[in-house]
Amino acid sequence: MSEKLALVTGASRGIGKACALELAKAGYDIIVNYAGNAEAAEKTVQEIKALGVEAAAYKFDVSNKEEVDKSIAEIVEKYGRIDVLVNNAGITRDGLFMRMSEENWNAVINTNLSSAFFVSQPVVKVMMKQRSGAIVNMASVVGVSGNAGQANYSAAKAGLIGLTKTLAKELGSRGIRVNAVAPGFINTDMTKDLDTSKFTDFIPLKRLGEPEDIAKVVKFLAVDADYVTGQVLEVDGGLII
Ligand code: NAI
Repeated sequence: MSEKLALVTGASRGIGKACALELAKAGYDIIVNYAGNAEAAEKTVQEIKALGVEAAAYKFDVSNKEEVDKSIAEIVEKYGRIDVLVNNAGITRDGLFMRMSEENWNAVINTNLSSAFFVSQPVVKVMMKQRSGAIVNMASVVGVSGNAGQANYSAAKAGLIGLTKTLAKELGSRGIRVNAVAPGFINTDMTKDLDTSKFTDFIPLKRLGEPEDIAKVVKFLAVDADYVTGQVLEVDGGLII
């Protein structure tokens, strides 16, 4: 076991998986949280272990406070510390505002925003005892710019940005840094049904991002950026300059 542990939510695929692998390359043992796909989570665990660090998969729904509390307590009991938390898990339920159901509003707010409250609270408790830690929240450029058809998702991601800045102010004196990454269009399951070819025209770097593009910045903020807190780094190929 290495001396440092990172917890990445929604880490069985996509951006979360890439973050888990990047932090493993930096020498962190990794807790791979997943919602349902045990096989994919186990595959991620094996890929992490092949990099020479420890990894374990924990199934919990980040939008369910009871499940979160139980799992984090188990993790803390077993490992004794959490050095990095990446609040990555998220979903979309797109639709125009006037047709948006309460169910789709709540699902997106709970999974993308309330989850960060549920997961961060018990993790921060541990980090406060350590007097060190770093949290990276996965926001989105639409949390900065807004986006037609994504009122629920934009509101949740904007909320995450507010949470990031507030926690940075509250926790800085305890040695805990809190930052956010705001990805643009990234090639993952979340965007696979969109016709993304038309977006590349508007992206100065003329391509979609890859999960690894986000993971490198998450690792920078979590591990290297000792004097950076409360920041939102847009990683979008220049989309919303
Ligand atoms: P994805 O759909 O491949 O991954 C999302 C992950 O979150 C999955 O592993 C899923 O199982 C997990 N998840 C969803 N609900 C969960 C729950 N209740 N409990 C635990 N895990 C849960 O999508 P992607 O693109 O990798 O998304 C990762 C994060 O990046 C999300 O927060 C998303 O909003 C954000 N993002 C993605 C962008 C993109 O273009 N792909 C752009 C901006 C932000």
